[in-house]
Parts: sequence; structure tokens; C-alpha cells
Amino acid sequence: MQVLVVGNGGREHALAWKIAQSSRVRRVFVAPGNAGTALDAENVDIPQDNIGQLVKFAKNQTIDLTVVGPEVPLVRGLVDALRREKLRVFGPSKAAAQLEGSKVFCKELLRSADVPSAEYHVFRDAKSAERFVVDRFPSDDENVPLVVKADGLAAGKGVVVCSRRRDALDAIDQIARQRTFGEAGSQLIIEERLHGEEASLLAITDGRTIVTLPPCQDHKPAFDGDRGPNTGGMGAYCPAPLVRDDMLRWLDEHILVPTVHAMKRSRRPFRGVLYAGLMVTHQGPKVLEYNVRFGDPECQPLLLRLRSSLIDILEATVDERLDEIGPLDWDPRPAVCVVMASEGYPRSSERGLPIRGLDDAAQVPDVKVFHAGTATVDQQVVTNGGRVLGVTALGNSISAAKLQAYTAVKCIRWRGAWCRKDISDKALEPSKSGVS
Ligand code: AMP
Ligand code: GLY
Repeated sequence: MQVLVVGNGGREHALAWKIAQSSRVRRVFVAPGNAGTALDAENVDIPQDNIGQLVKFAKNQTIDLTVVGPEVPLVRGLVDALRREKLRVFGPSKAAAQLEGSKVFCKELLRSADVPSAEYHVFRDAKSAERFVVDRFPSDDENVPLVVKADGLAAGKGVVVCSRRRDALDAIDQIARQRTFGEAGSQLIIEERLHGEEASLLAITDGRTIVTLPPCQDHKPAFDGDRGPNTGGMGAYCPAPLVRDDMLRWLDEHILVPTVHAMKRSRRPFRGVLYAGLMVTHQGPKVLEYNVRFGDPECQPLLLRLRSSLIDILEATVDERLDEIGPLDWDPRPAVCVVMASEGYPRSSERGLPIRGLDDAAQVPDVKVFHAGTATVDQQVVTNGGRVLGVTALGNSISAAKLQAYTAVKCIRWRGAWCRKDISDKALEPSKSGVS
């Protein structure tokens, strides 16, 4: 079969690499891809949000299955457009993708399904939001444990976790008055700030059967010790010991199953990857948000551990026969992914810098270097974005996987390259969050 993967990040490199391993798969295309996907698959020069061109390509090339990586084409209706042409596609419909595309929709669905989540209020204008904050917190120097969120997609930047009243008022101004995130700010949410440790729980569902994947943990802040600005994710590991087996069963029953049922009831049956961003609090786990796709970088350690055929799982989801797929086979060894970033990320990034040492890194046993912001110029791999590589390794323990990943990281260099040095350390000291 011929498969098209849509996207250009580390997630899409991991998807294309894993899909290409199946003997049933003849060709894998990635649109638009990066320097890594050009090696493990074939790149197609179509942007991820050009729905018309993607559908045309899938039709002309008789693509048997399209796999959509990022949220933007999902929320814009790529899946619906392909289905209208009778083409098979893995991912939720535009209506179901609202779970990520609209935080208001998501919170209302969670409330209706009785899924634990932070208390919240919805506002349609800056004035009423400001009044809410000032009424609740009359004094300027009070501790204000609130989170302000733009309703729509804002490339991960539309969420402001506040400590002081000024933070909340500034966030409201940015989102609802300045419209820094455009239409995404036409509604906003103010919710209670939760405390605890975060985990990523991903599941694949065809709308009836739910296959929960091993829990992961991402590292969103830029710098060691969870300091600095938020990023798309500076590294991840899998499994996350924070989520023990008894908690996993509880999460299935109280979070995933009620969500999938509620989506069906609201006539938006969910097919694809359901990714719950969780906060494990003293009152138990709560949903911070839903994403409707694989996490990036969580996808990289997950797929390095997956031994079952990914294409079989994706096809079973599309055909609504996920119940026929037996339990998934996982490498028992944990995996750690360290993101190497460009100087200046997440504010800016320099493009076109030659990357050296990729061949040496590839020689390190049990390591796979997934590309994200890379491109090939005159046969040389160069930087082409903020998150450049996801160096991913297996090991007999989380510390062994970490050591292996950093051994490969040391082989790779370009001007200004950097990474966090503490990826996966949270697995070794979970008590730091104060959650027991
Ligand atoms: P979201 O896009 O909604 O997941 O938010 C991005 C990040 O903001 C999360 O990964 C959390 O670190 C943080 N965050 C979101 N909502 C809350 C909340 N209610 N309390 C504390 N932190 C939050
Ligand atoms: N790793 C965070 C995300 O994919 O949204």
C-alpha cells in the first residue's frame, strides 16, 4: 500500500519511519516533511494546511491511507475533505477535532460528561473577563491562582498561567483586546490554577474501542528544572512511573470512556488519537486539555517502544474494527527523547546552519534521531526551525535510556545548538511535585 503522512515535525518523522517498516507498505510520502523524512520516506512539497492540494495528491497517487499528524489540518477539515473523495484517512473529523480546536467546546463536553477538570468561566469580551478578575481579587498584590486561555488554536501560546492579578489582566488584554491570536481570542476561558505533576495519556479509538497507550511525560518549559518560557516540548519519556497501573485503570474509566461516549452522544464520533493532558493533583488526576493527535515529542518515545505494526492499528481504527486488534506489543525497555533546539528558541530560530555528527549519533546503539526543523540544502542537513531534532533512545531503565540519548546528543553539533540536560529526571524524583 501507499501511505501519505501530513506534517513536518519529529512526530511525523516517527510516524513515517514506523509505518515504512511494514512489509505491506510499498511507499510512504510525507507532506511537506523534513530532511529526516526524506531519508526514511519520500517528501512531497505541499504545505500541511493546503487541503486542496493534499486531496489532489492523495487522489492522483491512489494513496491507500493518509495519516494526519498536526492539529491545524484536522481542525480545518482535511479528514472530511479526503473522506468526501472516498479516500481513507486516520484522524478525527473537523467536528470531532473541535475538542482541541475550541477550549470552550472541550470544557463544556468535559462538564457534561462529568470528567474531572479545573473549574472555569467563559467570556466573550475583555470587559466582563476583567470585571470577573477584579471582583474576585480586589487587591492588586493578591496571589491570583488563575489560568487565562484563548478559545482557539494559538500554536500553544494562548495559555497564560497567572500568579498575580496583573498577569491575568495582561493576558485578557492580549487575547481579547489586542487579538494577538486573532480569531482564537473571540472567546476566552478563565479557570482555576491546578497544582501537581503533568502527564500525557494518549489513546487510539475508533469511536467504540479504546486502546490506551503507555503514559508519557513531556517537558514543556524551555530550561532545566522546568524554568523559562513554555515550548512545544523539550523532551519526553515513556512510560511515566507517575501514572501507575491502578491510576491507568481509573483514567480509562473516569476520563477516556466518558469522553468518547460524550463525543458520540454529541454526534461527533471520535476516531483517531485522543491525547489527554493531565494534571495529577492531590484530589486525583484532572484533564488540562485534550489534543486530537499524537503528542510531539511524546510520539517519538512511544513509537520507538511499539513492536506491533502501526499501520495495522491505524487501518483498524479507520475501519472501526479496533476491537479485533489484540493487546499491543511494547518493548519493555523505557524510551527517552531529548529535543535539540536552535539558539533563541522559543522566541526565534536561525535557519540554514549545517548540522554535523548525525552519522556518528546514528551509530550509538538503541538510538534513533528523529528530525523536526531540518532541511536538506546541497546534500547538507541544515537547521530549519526551533525544535531541530528529537534524539530518542531505549535503555534497560529510564536512566540508561537517558544516558544513551545524551551520548548521541554529544555527537551532534551546529552553531547555537542546545537542549535540556534533565529530560526524564522527574521519573526518578516524582516527590518533587508534592504529589504523593
Ligand atoms: P493547555 O494548552 O491547556 O494544555 O495548557 C498548556 C500548559 O499550561 C499545560 O501543559 C499546563 O502546564 C498549563 N496549564 C493549563 N491549564 C492549567 C491549569 N488549569 N492549572 C495549571 N496549569 C495549567
Ligand atoms: N507535547 C505537547 C503537544 O504535543 O501538544
